Amino acid sequence: IILDGKSYSFPVIEGTEHEKAIDIAKLRDQTGYITIDSGYKNTGATKSAITFLDGEEGILRYRGYPIEQLAEQSSFLEVAYLLIYGTLPTQAELDEFSNQITKHTLVHEDVRKIFDGFPSAAHPMAILSSLICALTAFYPESVSPDLSKENIDLNVIRLMAKLPTIAAWTYKNNMGHPLNYPRNDLDYAANFLYMMFSFPTEKYEINPVVVRAINKLLILHADHEQNCSTSTVRLVGSANASLYGSVSAGINALWGPLHGGANQEVVEMLEAIQRDGGDTSKFIAKAKDKNDPFRLMGFGHRVYKNFDPRAKIIKKAADEVLTALGISDPLLKIAQELEQAALTDPYFVERKLYPNVDFYSGIIYKAIGIPTEMFTVMFALGRLPGWIAQWKEMRENKEPIGRPRQVYTGELDRDYTPI
Ligand code: MLT
Repeated sequence: IILDGKSYSFPVIEGTEHEKAIDIAKLRDQTGYITIDSGYKNTGATKSAITFLDGEEGILRYRGYPIEQLAEQSSFLEVAYLLIYGTLPTQAELDEFSNQITKHTLVHEDVRKIFDGFPSAAHPMAILSSLICALTAFYPESVSPDLSKENIDLNVIRLMAKLPTIAAWTYKNNMGHPLNYPRNDLDYAANFLYMMFSFPTEKYEINPVVVRAINKLLILHADHEQNCSTSTVRLVGSANASLYGSVSAGINALWGPLHGGANQEVVEMLEAIQRDGGDTSKFIAKAKDKNDPFRLMGFGHRVYKNFDPRAKIIKKAADEVLTALGISDPLLKIAQELEQAALTDPYFVERKLYPNVDFYSGIIYKAIGIPTEMFTVMFALGRLPGWIAQWKEMRENKEPIGRPRQVYTGELDRDYTPI
């Protein structure tokens, strides 16, 4: 490669995705070389020690631990601690983390006054992002660029504690139901379900299978390295914006249907197939037809060229929840037929269009009564520790303010002629 008159030679970049990423980072460091890509794709612009993802092999690890082991054996708070602080907690550390969170689950009554001003039809994500940003006003020290470690920890705890409370409020607002105060005797996921579904005139039974499934779902969504919302959190935070302001920006990015809306689209697609009579073979044929194409939602993934490792775990959780709740949802039959086609039909197998995480998560949410408008809120609840970890890592590394490179493509020099 010759750049600015200097010549550089590099070995052919090969090996695992991880090795390639390191080689590309070295290349860029030595040459100042950038790739022209409006979505930052393949630029390797962020160095991070949080989540490792290999799309070719279908590997996802948080801080080195395989996602499969974490999802099966740990709780969401354990994984949140791992992502945020870098190591798995001891029992004493986990107890302290959990106690601290339960102390902060209540939200200031003046935030409630802002909440009361939202119309009942407000989209839950509009309320969530607004109120998370509003926390900056209630904890003004959070905007300081020189926060002590203790202060950062306090903001982290507050955010982990209050986001589920506000998230449950958004649902109650849509339903026109009274709000529930948090129950600190319950674990993180169970308390969230209680705040969502408990109603004063009815006894609320907490189903352990559902709690376990929610824990898994939150773990599987806890981080996914750089994507639209996570790089937004880092970019906004790189200006020394507060944790609340940065996460609020991430929530807005996630709200965009191309990012957080995939599982909603899956359920809507299943419902559309059902309304049409439920004949999946017709839609599978349409999906293959170049002249009359139909996009099957929830298949394939931008980074995973093989099976999305999260999908297998979530499929099992979906089966467990539906069995435990005794639900025979006709949408599930449609989903199973589509899944079968994707796993066996050569058209899908050759194109590696395997069901992804979004294909199954919507089915679980629907089974436990979470409306589709709340699906992105559930995603935000899970992604929160990842956003926090990414924000914290960026601050601790004292990274410079982000400034995406631009390649100007407009007119070069024009003469102004008055009208
Ligand atoms: C995610 O979990 O963030 C999604 O799969 C989107 C992505 O990583 O691009």
